[in-house]
Amino acid sequence: MLTTLIVASSLPLLAAAQSAASQAYTPVVGACPSGFTLVRQAGAPGNQTLGSEEAAYITGRKTNVLPDAWKTYLANLQAANTSLPDYVTTILSGSSTSGADYPNLGIACSGGGWRATMFGAGVLNVLDARNTTSVSLGTGGLLQAATYITGLSGGSNLLGSLVQANFPTSEVLAYGTNSADPTEAWGGWLTQITQQTPYLNTTMNNEYLALLIEEIRGKYEAGFAVSFNDITSRDNGRHFVNGTNVENFNDTTLLHGAGYTWSGTSNLTTITSYQQPFPILVATLLSPNGNFSTVIPDSSDIIPTSNPIIELNIYEMGSYDPTLAAFTPMKYLGTTNETLCVTNLDQIGTVVGSSGDWNTFYNTSQSALEASFVYPITTALNATLPQPNIVLDSAVFPNPFQGAAMEGQFIDAKETIIMMSDGGSNGEAVPIQPLLVKARGLDTIFAIDSNQDWPNEYWSAGGSLVNTQNRINNLFPTAYSFPPVPTNTSEFIAQNLSTRPSFFGCDSSTEAPLIIYVANGGPPHNGEPSLLNQQPSNVSLTELQAILDQSYLIGTQGYPADASEAEDPEWPACLACAVVDRARNRTGVARSGICSTCLERYCWNGSTVGLVATTTGGASGLRVPGGQGMSGFVVSALLSVLVLAYL
Ligand SMILES: *[C@@H]1O[C@H](CO)[C@@H](O)[C@H](O)[C@H]1NC(C)=O
Ligand SMILES: *[C@@H]1O[C@H](CO)[C@@H](O)[C@H](O)[C@H]1NC(C)=O
Ligand SMILES: *[C@@H]1O[C@H](CO)[C@@H](O)[C@H](O)[C@H]1NC(C)=O
Ligand SMILES: *[C@@H]1O[C@H](CO)[C@@H](O)[C@H](O)[C@H]1NC(C)=O
Ligand SMILES: *[C@@H]1O[C@H](CO)[C@@H](O)[C@H](O)[C@H]1NC(C)=O
Ligand SMILES: *[C@@H]1O[C@H](CO)[C@@H](O)[C@H](O)[C@H]1NC(C)=O
Ligand SMILES: *[C@@H]1O[C@H](CO)[C@@H](O)[C@H](O)[C@H]1NC(C)=O
Ligand SMILES: *[C@@H]1O[C@H](CO)[C@@H](O)[C@H](O)[C@H]1NC(C)=O
Ligand SMILES: *[C@@H]1O[C@H](CO)[C@@H](O)[C@H](O)[C@H]1NC(C)=O
Ligand SMILES: *[C@@H]1O[C@H](CO)[C@@H](O)[C@H](O)[C@H]1NC(C)=O
Ligand SMILES: *[C@@H]1O[C@H](CO)[C@@H](O)[C@H](O)[C@H]1NC(C)=O
Ligand SMILES: *[C@@H]1O[C@H](CO)[C@@H](O)[C@H](O)[C@H]1NC(C)=O
Repeated sequence: MLTTLIVASSLPLLAAAQSAASQAYTPVVGACPSGFTLVRQAGAPGNQTLGSEEAAYITGRKTNVLPDAWKTYLANLQAANTSLPDYVTTILSGSSTSGADYPNLGIACSGGGWRATMFGAGVLNVLDARNTTSVSLGTGGLLQAATYITGLSGGSNLLGSLVQANFPTSEVLAYGTNSADPTEAWGGWLTQITQQTPYLNTTMNNEYLALLIEEIRGKYEAGFAVSFNDITSRDNGRHFVNGTNVENFNDTTLLHGAGYTWSGTSNLTTITSYQQPFPILVATLLSPNGNFSTVIPDSSDIIPTSNPIIELNIYEMGSYDPTLAAFTPMKYLGTTNETLCVTNLDQIGTVVGSSGDWNTFYNTSQSALEASFVYPITTALNATLPQPNIVLDSAVFPNPFQGAAMEGQFIDAKETIIMMSDGGSNGEAVPIQPLLVKARGLDTIFAIDSNQDWPNEYWSAGGSLVNTQNRINNLFPTAYSFPPVPTNTSEFIAQNLSTRPSFFGCDSSTEAPLIIYVANGGPPHNGEPSLLNQQPSNVSLTELQAILDQSYLIGTQGYPADASEAEDPEWPACLACAVVDRARNRTGVARSGICSTCLERYCWNGSTVGLVATTTGGASGLRVPGGQGMSGFVVSALLSVLVLAYL
C-alpha cells in the first residue's frame, strides 16, 4: 500500500542553508484560486472534450498560424518543381470548396535514449521551414504546419528542451545559443557530458550525486515524496532546461533549470503566438493494481498494456484511455484537493524525466535490483532523505485522481500517490496514443522511430506500432482507430519497412489516421556506415553534428523506385501526397498523377511476405530485446557504472 509521506516538524530547519536550486525546486502550497477544478472528466470516446486551454490553443493555431504555414510549405514544394496533382495545391492553399479542411498533422518522436534525441532532431530538421536545404528539397515547412507533436523518453528530452528553449532550430537546440547571459539562456544538450556521472573521477561523481540529492531536499522537507526521478530531474535540468553550459556546469550557486515549469512554458512567446505544434509528453502508469496478465509476454516490458498511458501536455496531466478518462491541471500538479493547491511541482526536468524513467525495469527481484546501477543511487537517496513506503525507482506524484468518484474508473483511485515509468515500458516507444484521441481529429501522423527492437542491433523494426495495434485491437477497439500494420517485427524486417519510409493506412478506413513511418532502421542507403547503431552515454560535439547530419540524410533519402539509387528524387512529392491524402479523401477527389504511383510504392500493401513463424495470437508473438524505450539517462548511468566497475 502506498502512503503519502508526512515529514513533519521533527526535522531541523535546514531551509536557510539550502541552495538556490533546492529552493527553486521546492513546490509551493497555497489557497486554490476560486473556481478551481482538480479533476476534469474527459468523457467517453465519441463524447470527449479537450481541455479548454488546449482547445483555445488549437483554435488560435488554426486561425493565426496554419493557413500561412501550409502556404509556405506549398510554395517550398512548388519551388522544388514537383509535379503534383492539382488537388494537392488546392488543399494546401486552403482553396478547397468541397468542405475539406487543411490536413490535421501530428508528429511523434520516439524513445531510445540519446540516439532518439539526436535522430528525432535530425528528422525534425528535414521538416523545418528554417532549414534552407529542407526548403529547397520541398520538405521544409511541415514542422511549422503540424498541429500536434508528441515525445517519449529520449524523444521527451528532445521535445521538452525544444519547447522550453522557445522552439529554436535543431542546430541551436543541440548546441545552444551564444548568449550574453548564459545563466538564463539555452546552453545546448551538452551531449559531451554523461548524464548523472559527468566526471571520470568516481569521488567527483559521488559528490555530484550528493549535490543532486541536496537539490531535492527542499521538496522533501516540504512534505513531498521524492524518488529517483527527482534526481533525474535535477540532472535533466542541466541538459534539457535553460541555464547550463559547459563552463558553468559545476557552478553550485546556479539554478540549473530548477524552477522552470512545464506549465510555465505556456508564457513563452512562441506559445502565446501559437507558433509551436501543441506539445505532449508521454509516460505510463506504474501501479500495483494493474492486470499483469496484459504485460506483453516474452518481452522486457513491465507495464500491463491495460494500464492508462499518461500524457503530460503543457496544460494538463491525465489520459484519454477509458480506464482513466480524466485530467488535472499541469500548473497544479501535486494538488489532491480543491482547498490547498500545489504549484511549482511540474518542473520541466521532472515531467520530462517521468516520461523516461526506465529504472523500474531493473526492479524485477530484490537480487536483480541490488545488482543494478539503480540500487546505490536509491540507497543513497533513502539514507539521506529517508521515507517509508515509497517506490524509489519510479516517478512519484501526489494522486489527484483519488476518492469515490474515481472508483471503478481508475485502478489507483485508492492510492495517495501515483507512479510513472518510462513511456516505452508497456512496449510502445512511439508516442502515438495522444494522436489517436478522437476529439483531436488527427488525420496524418509522421512517426519518427529510433527505438531499439531489431535483434542484436540498435535499429528499429516497428515493434512499437505492432504493440499499439495489439493494444487497440485487444483492449480499446472503439476508443481508438489504428490503421493495419504488420503483426510482428520479423515482418517489418523482411519487407524493409523500417529501412525506408513506409506509409500505413493508405487504403484502409479513414477513421484511422494515415501513418508516415520514418525509422532508424539501418545505415543510410548511400553506403555510409551507421552512426546510429549505438546507445551512447555521451557524444562529442563533432560526433553530434555527424549524427544529426546522418539522421537528416535518413530523413531525406526516401524509397527510390530505382533500387540502384540512394535517394528518391520524388520523396518530397510523395511525402506531400501522404500528408494531404485524408483531406483529399474528404473532398471526394480520386488520387491521381504522381500521388498514385508514390503511394503505391510507399504504402505497406498488407502482405505477410517473409513471415517465418506464426504468432501465438493475442498480444504476444513479439520478442523485444531489452532496452526498448530506454532513456539516455539510465543507459548512460548504467554504462558508466559498468565502466567504472571494470576500470
Ligand atoms: C457526454 O458527456 C457529458 C458530460 O461531459 C454527459 O453529460 C453526457 O451524458 C454524455 N453523453 C453521452 C451520450 O455519453
Ligand atoms: C524549377 O523550374 C523553373 C522553371 O522551369 C526553373 O527556373 C527553376 O530553376 C527550377 N527550380 C529547381 C529547384 O529546379
Ligand atoms: C530559454 O532561453 C531562450 C533563449 O536562449 C529563450 O528564448 C527562452 O524564452 C528561455 N526559456 C525559458 C523557459 O525561460
Ligand atoms: C578525484 O577527485 C578528488 C576530489 O576532487 C581528488 O581528491 C582526487 O585526487 C581525484 N582522483 C583522481 C584519480 O583524479
Ligand atoms: C568542473 O568540471 C570539470 C570537468 O568537467 C573539472 O575539470 C573541473 O575541475 C570542475 N571544476 C570545479 C570547480 O569543480
Ligand atoms: C504566465 O505569466 C503570468 C504573468 O506573469 C502569470 O500570472 C501566470 O501564472 C503565468 N502562467 C503560468 C502557467 O505560469
Ligand atoms: C486481465 O487481462 C486478461 C487478458 O486480457 C483478461 O482475460 C482478464 O479478464 C483480465 N482480468 C481482469 C480482472 O480484468
Ligand atoms: C488538501 O491537501 C493538502 C496537501 O496538499 C492537505 O494538507 C490538506 O489537509 C488537504 N485538505 C483536505 C480538506 O483534505
Ligand atoms: C528506506 O529506508 C527506510 C528506513 O528509513 C526503510 O524502512 C525502507 O525499507 C528503505 N527503502 C528502501 C527501498 O530501501
Ligand atoms: C521495487 O519494486 C517493488 C514492487 O513494486 C517496490 O515495492 C519497491 O519499492 C521497489 N524498490 C525500489 C528501490 O524502488
Ligand atoms: C540544415 O540541416 C543540415 C543537416 O543537419 C545542417 O547541416 C544544416 O546546418 C541545417 N541548416 C540550418 C540553417 O539549420
Ligand atoms: C475514401 O476512403 C475510403 C476508405 O478507404 C474509400 O472507401 C473511399 O473510396 C475513399 N474516397 C475517395 C474519393 O478516395
